[in-house]
Amino acid sequence: MSTDHELDPTTTTAALAQAARTAGYAPSIHNTQPWRWRVRARSLELRAERGRQLAVTDPSGRLLTVSCGTALHHVRLALAAEGWAAEVYRLPDGADPDLLARLTLTGRTEVTPAAMRLLQTVRIRRTDRRPVSESPVSGTALEGIRHAVTAEGARVHYLRPEDVVELASAADHARTVEAMDPTWTDEMSYWIGLPREDGLGVPAAAIPSEPPSTMVPNRDFGHGGALPVGPSHDRAAVYAILYGDADSAMGWLRGGEALSAAWLSAIELDLTLLPLSAAVEVPGTRQALRRILSGVGEPYLVLRLGAADPEHAGPPHTPRLPADQVVEIVDRG
Ligand SMILES: Cc1cc2nc3c(=O)[nH]c(=O)nc-3n(C[C@H](O)[C@H](O)[C@H](O)COP(=O)(O)O)c2cc1C
Repeated sequence: MSTDHELDPTTTTAALAQAARTAGYAPSIHNTQPWRWRVRARSLELRAERGRQLAVTDPSGRLLTVSCGTALHHVRLALAAEGWAAEVYRLPDGADPDLLARLTLTGRTEVTPAAMRLLQTVRIRRTDRRPVSESPVSGTALEGIRHAVTAEGARVHYLRPEDVVELASAADHARTVEAMDPTWTDEMSYWIGLPREDGLGVPAAAIPSEPPSTMVPNRDFGHGGALPVGPSHDRAAVYAILYGDADSAMGWLRGGEALSAAWLSAIELDLTLLPLSAAVEVPGTRQALRRILSGVGEPYLVLRLGAADPEHAGPPHTPRLPADQVVEIVDRG
């Protein structure tokens, strides 16, 4: 039951703006943070920021929309952990495809310990591109991740060893195809590894100083990074494909929400999760992923899961845009 005070516009606007600021911690392709939040007295709009879409790597906006989905899941979690109930309308206006979601506050709700725990993982989460530890990933943990994904309307397929070989070959081919395209390498160099102060892109400090020994190669970052990797191999990692029914904006958005839910759950389970998108970016290798899925769905992203290495401190946090560049209060009621 909500009191008038709790639903007064000053309180609700502040709660929505705070949740949108928390969503700034969400992961995004090349750390492009391709979203913009519009805060109104009782509702919040998530808009795609096409100015930060990767025109060469992601012409259809698939990875932009998956990235926005991770931010949407973060905002939903931030509201739930503060005791706010919200209704979510995804792609609510067919005439305005950049309006990805509208959330409307409906009142107060009980805060669950699960939501509070998961919110704590938001600030800890970061992309770790180094090999994982030698410890195996338990079946129980994989079931936990599967549960987190399906609860968000997407699905996950864990790969058998023979499929990992096929995935490695697809990922390797995607690297080669992309590296041969000078427009692609230009786009990559703009976003990755350069010193910059605008809070965008992936800093050299988060990129391995040499290619790590992994079963499936990550994208070719073009220039070496500054993150020491050590001699370990990721033999104990589990590779997976995050997928869904449709290769559409709705599917990608739900896929992004599922990615966020899986990643935050992985942290709770002492696992690391690394998204790998190169094989999804190239049409031919995306087709290879469909084959690995035996045609049961549309691939959104490859995931690597592994036990966190207790010897390793995490890589540094990747910077973010200042909140006032992504969160706009348009109406305080
Ligand atoms: C849709 C999507 C695709 C991504 N693809 C890759 C990838 O192929 N390789 C990689 O190393 N990181 C990938 N990332 C991780 C981003 O680079 C990372 O989230 C971003 O730089 C922000 O850093 P943080 O996750 O440490 O906060 C991806 C993230 C998302 C959301």
